[in-house]
Amino acid sequence: MVKLLSVVGARPNFMKVGPLHRAFQKYTGSIEHVILHTGQHYDERMSKIFFEDLELPQPDIYLGVGSGSHAEQTAKIMTAFEAALQEQRPDCVIVVGDVNSTLACSVTSSKLGIPVVHVEAGLRSNDRGMPEEINRLVTDVLSDHLFVSEPSGLENLRREGVPDEKVHFVGNVMIDSLIHFKAKAESSTIRTDIGVGDSPYVLITLHRPSNVDSRENLGKILDIFKGLPQEYKLVFPVHPRTKDRLKTFGLWDDFANLPNIILGEPTGYLDFLHLMMNSALLLTDSGGIQEETTYLQIPCLTLRENTERPVTITEGTNRLLSLNPAEVIRAAEDALSGNTKKGRIPELWDGHAAERIAAIMNTLFTTGGTK
Ligand code: UD1
Repeated sequence: MVKLLSVVGARPNFMKVGPLHRAFQKYTGSIEHVILHTGQHYDERMSKIFFEDLELPQPDIYLGVGSGSHAEQTAKIMTAFEAALQEQRPDCVIVVGDVNSTLACSVTSSKLGIPVVHVEAGLRSNDRGMPEEINRLVTDVLSDHLFVSEPSGLENLRREGVPDEKVHFVGNVMIDSLIHFKAKAESSTIRTDIGVGDSPYVLITLHRPSNVDSRENLGKILDIFKGLPQEYKLVFPVHPRTKDRLKTFGLWDDFANLPNIILGEPTGYLDFLHLMMNSALLLTDSGGIQEETTYLQIPCLTLRENTERPVTITEGTNRLLSLNPAEVIRAAEDALSGNTKKGRIPELWDGHAAERIAAIMNTLFTTGGTK
């Protein structure tokens, strides 16, 4: 029996580990799968609700590290994770995505000589100003096996000299979750609950430090909101970081007083999927939403200078825009008038990525393959 330990920490991790956990259930005779939650995200709406929505079991281990500066948070995770590894003694650690928990746990495992597997490897924004880019680079350089979601990941890893035999192109585990839960999300009552009903709306999420940590940029975002076609409601579930910054800069009321805005708390997975599926347009700076809208073939305007997920632009419905209100408003008007590409669904985004990973892991770790 081989013991695999998957790490989750922050909101975008849960929908990636969910399908892996389901896929490992097929190998109960040979694989024991343990889930560890670092506690990087801890609010009910940033964490617990996702376990319920994604039908994930309670984590086997909870480190409860909480927030802090990057160094502080990373150090707390490493210290607590080292102790957990010494107790659990897994044969392999699986990390997903690019959050601080991903970096902290891959460094700790590799120093203890425990093989590391990275799911969603190879993505690069080529912008080291983004904390996630540092997390991706460090995690990939330490990983023993790298599971890749889009062709750019293969090119990046090859260019960085990662041997081909460590790299596996398997598709997108987050899209596995979307496909698995789409039908269930249809029956969510969130549109009635928040009062948007059957009105057309633009769905908005913003939380990147580059957008929300400066008053000037939040002012530009307010100008964008004011300039979007008024017949659309603006549905904006606000991330805790963004809420904190809006309050600190004294801008919360300016947003709350817009006549067509619906400001809310972060939603769970199923409610958010429902909101995406029914929206006219997404305005976001998220990584994952660029992919989910590409799969759903809904137009997405991403308020960032770059993306680590270029397939969402070359094949999908995503468009990158810098924080220039006139340009963003023009692009939104264009998209809302139906002047957008429909795009196509990228290769292997078919709902079976986690099954491919489980099959490969089973071969590598339980049937005499090399670790
Ligand atoms: C983290 C990830 C980011 C991901 C995002 C999704 C890193 C470097 N960043 O950013 O890649 O897109 O999660 O949400 O790992 N807070 C709460 N409750 C919580 C969690 C956080 O109130 O449950 C507040 C705290 O004030 C905290 C701030 O949000 O200081 C930021 O949290 P943190 O985990 O540091 O980064 P995120 O901005 O959430």
